[in-house]
Amino acid sequence: MSLFATKPLHMLTAESGDHEHSLKRTLGPAALVGLGIGAIIGAGLFSLTGIAAANNAGPAVVLSFVAAAIGCAFAGMCYSEFSTMIPIAGSAYTYAYATMGELIAWIIGWDLVLEYAVGAATVSISWSSYVISLLHDFGINLPPALIASPWQPVALPDGTMVHGLINLPAVIIVCALSALLMVGIRESARINEVMVVIKVTVVLVFIIGGWGYMNSANHTPFIPPNTGTFGEFGYSGILRAAGIIFFAFIGFDAVSTAAQEAKNPQRDMPIGIIGSLVVCTILYVLFAWVMTGLQPSSAFKGSAAPVAVAIAATPFTWLAKGVKFAIICGYTSVMLVMLLGQSRVFYSMSRDGLLPGVFSAIHHKFRTPWRSNMFFMVFVGLFSAFAPISLVGEMTSIGTLLAFVIVCVGILVMRRTLPDVPRPFRTPWVPLVPILGVLANLGLMLGLGRDNWLRLVIWLGIGLLIYFLYSRKNSKVQAAQSRRAA
Ligand code: ALA
Repeated sequence: MSLFATKPLHMLTAESGDHEHSLKRTLGPAALVGLGIGAIIGAGLFSLTGIAAANNAGPAVVLSFVAAAIGCAFAGMCYSEFSTMIPIAGSAYTYAYATMGELIAWIIGWDLVLEYAVGAATVSISWSSYVISLLHDFGINLPPALIASPWQPVALPDGTMVHGLINLPAVIIVCALSALLMVGIRESARINEVMVVIKVTVVLVFIIGGWGYMNSANHTPFIPPNTGTFGEFGYSGILRAAGIIFFAFIGFDAVSTAAQEAKNPQRDMPIGIIGSLVVCTILYVLFAWVMTGLQPSSAFKGSAAPVAVAIAATPFTWLAKGVKFAIICGYTSVMLVMLLGQSRVFYSMSRDGLLPGVFSAIHHKFRTPWRSNMFFMVFVGLFSAFAPISLVGEMTSIGTLLAFVIVCVGILVMRRTLPDVPRPFRTPWVPLVPILGVLANLGLMLGLGRDNWLRLVIWLGIGLLIYFLYSRKNSKVQAAQSRRAA
């Protein structure tokens, strides 16, 4: 049995043939860019910008956004090449299986749990903060025990710091969205476009409305001096903040999961992936500049709703409620896409025999992998209920960065092993761009510090145990190869 057995391209294409007739090719380039922006703009921008500015980079969080965007752009180009070469509904897992073999595919599929499932938990915790803050604006205050995990001190809207028992609103939204996915609610491009319009409008209103009220003193010094600890301000702080706010860019890879619904995937996938990245980078840099200009960065420390803190420095305080509501809507779409992405990845892994059949069992009436949705409802719900946001946010980032590193390596491998397979989009300057992608994303991973690496290693260790005890023995690709060899 080979650890590096690959799933042949013809097998992938044949499997996708089943879906060919059921999935409609309706998405054009604008809808794909919209899909990307829909999955990208969320908790990273609205919550982590404030945290990273307060704890790590000060106003130089703007540079952290640029650094993170560069790392993402390299990976985005590699994703684009894969998505035009293997234009079927998939993910880094499918790409890796076709090119680098089963073990790497397993690692990436297992790792994507950090991106999608733990990512959804992260957004749910941030969602909860904004819901609590909005309810407070309407005079409704939930009991402190029910609004935060036991590990995270949270500032109540009146400024008091509390420890909670369970983050109930976060659990409720995860359950509600999982239930929607179980009964087959699919994000139509239309609903997504509405979400995107709301989110982008809020970001633009914030930038334009806040621009005139910035205080240049808040931008000085632009790079606060390092405190003596790595990652606390100074240049290392910019790198560490880049690792944290990298979360804000996660989601552009979700465009690649829609390859089978694209009208002309070979032309439009790169536009969707790279276009959404470019639009978001411009918005993020401007947003971070205005946010850190409105208040001293320290004002965002421990804040549950940092955008509201920034708005408090403008005369438009009436805007805060509407902005919070729009942010809550925006987060909801991000979580839905992530939970959906998670179930798609485990569905593929289960169909390949690498995970038990329960993850690809389809409900007879709803035609959804409902047991998988239910499993992740509990898994994600536990993180939402009990984990501090910084922990899950950083785990999501390090997991996604690893996926990006593997995708960049995949391009290098593929150019050697499958040089003749047509790929309408070719990553420019190979091997330079993929190598820079590996280095940039590894650099961001280094910025995330030792504890996160340890958690990643433990998570991958658990994954490898499952692979060797279960997946390898049940792999359909391995079985097919053994049959051929016999
Ligand atoms: N990029 C997404 C967000 O920031 C995951 O919420």
